Amino acid sequence: MNLYPFFWIPSTKFPTNFPLTAPTKRVSLSLLRTERKSISTPHTRARPVYDRLAAHYERVIGPLERRWLGRLRAELLGEMPARARLLEVGAGTGLNFRHYPRGACGVASELSREMLLIARDKPERPDGVRLVQARAEQLPFADGAFDAAFATLVFCSVASPAQGFAELRRVVRPGGTVALLEHVRPAGLLGHAFDALSLLTVPLFDDHFNRRTAEEASRAGLTLRRVENHLRGVVQLIVCGVS
Ligand SMILES: C[S@@+](CC[C@H](N)C(=O)[O-])C[C@H]1O[C@@H](n2cnc3c(N)ncnc32)[C@H](O)[C@@H]1O
Repeated sequence: MNLYPFFWIPSTKFPTNFPLTAPTKRVSLSLLRTERKSISTPHTRARPVYDRLAAHYERVIGPLERRWLGRLRAELLGEMPARARLLEVGAGTGLNFRHYPRGACGVASELSREMLLIARDKPERPDGVRLVQARAEQLPFADGAFDAAFATLVFCSVASPAQGFAELRRVVRPGGTVALLEHVRPAGLLGHAFDALSLLTVPLFDDHFNRRTAEEASRAGLTLRRVENHLRGVVQLIVCGVS
């Protein structure tokens, strides 16, 4: 079994020849068995904020999930081509697993080990999807390794969205799809309120409420195919092409 310098929870049915970049350093198997400690690796220099929030995440997001988020997740995952090699970035506790296409194959990546530990125990995770601890801005995968990638509620937290999108452009093959479900800065007066809200949420949770994510993706060279507003433009479903 290969062990990479990030948290990797192997899945028995995942193809062993999947084009990951070569591991640079091996870690002890005991790290994978240390259930509650955060791992410090080149990919996780500081303890990610979501290590602290992991245990509460699903309880907090639950009402939104039942009201509209679940439906939007299903819509986003509907953008994923059948039989594609998929990459999820910032998979969190695995709330998208139930919406993956049947027989999905690929990687669900996530920065926080504590979030990954919860995702690991989700029975909905497809057999062909393995878990990898990785930072969006530094993905440990080969160029063009995936047919499509997606993220939900992640680019509000990613430290460098430009670098994250550049990485998605690299690891998704030309002609592939990148789909996002993100809360963003809404237009009009509400936008200013979100600027103010960010002054609080960024130091507390690394969460930017005023990101212009579609523009960022486009600036990074992704081709915007569709931008759909939800909840008065606070949430957007963004579908991009890779050229
Ligand atoms: C609001 S949660 C969303 C989790 C999940 N995608 C969902 O929809 O429920 C944001 C997630 O993004 C992850 N994250 C934040 N910055 C990241 C980064 N630079 N690279 C990868 N994941 C990151 C966090 O650890 C957290 O799990």
